[in-house]
Amino acid sequence: MSESTPKLQDLAIRTIAMPKDTNPFGDIFGGWLVSQMDLAGALIAQKYSKKRVATVAINQMSFKKPVEVGDEVSCYARIDHFGHTSLTIHIEVWATSPLLEDTHKVTEGIFVFVALDDQGHPSPIDRTPTKK
Ligand SMILES: CC(C)(COP(=O)(O)OP(=O)(O)OC[C@H]1O[C@@H](n2cnc3c(N)ncnc32)[C@H](O)[C@@H]1OP(=O)(O)O)[C@@H](O)C(=O)NCCC(=O)NCCS
Repeated sequence: MSESTPKLQDLAIRTIAMPKDTNPFGDIFGGWLVSQMDLAGALIAQKYSKKRVATVAINQMSFKKPVEVGDEVSCYARIDHFGHTSLTIHIEVWATSPLLEDTHKVTEGIFVFVALDDQGHPSPIDRTPTKK
């Protein structure tokens, strides 16, 4: 059974697939989607670690359906694991065709980010909640 709504809560990025994001055949380039996911994961990792971060691993990527030019592309994220210096983030990408009003999952993957200090070395994550 295919899913019809995103399960992950944190909407990190929403953008539109443009003609410049296509490969020579006119299809949306997988590398463009991965870069959107990387940006989305980095935003969430920075938000929760309150530090600069670097991507250290991308695991379990799967491309399920194509993205069409003009689709609204939304990256949803959920932190699966807080490590000592790392965060493991599950990212799903959903595409909505504005004309057909159809929303479907196109890609998902597990991204690992490492929090860094000013010298670019791994730095422990402080999970103390931010005061409001
Ligand atoms: C990120 C970086 C500073 C980490 O340095 P490192 O020497 O590997 O650090 P460590 O071995 O102490 O690992 C740090 C954390 O990353 C995790 N980690 C390292 N490699 C990993 C991998 N391949 N998969 C999952 N987690 C990994 C470790 O488990 C550790 O997590 P923890 O502290 O929560 O237990 C270094 O690998 C680096 O600079 N990589 C390049 C990053 C980059 O340029 N990314 C953009 C690519 S274009």
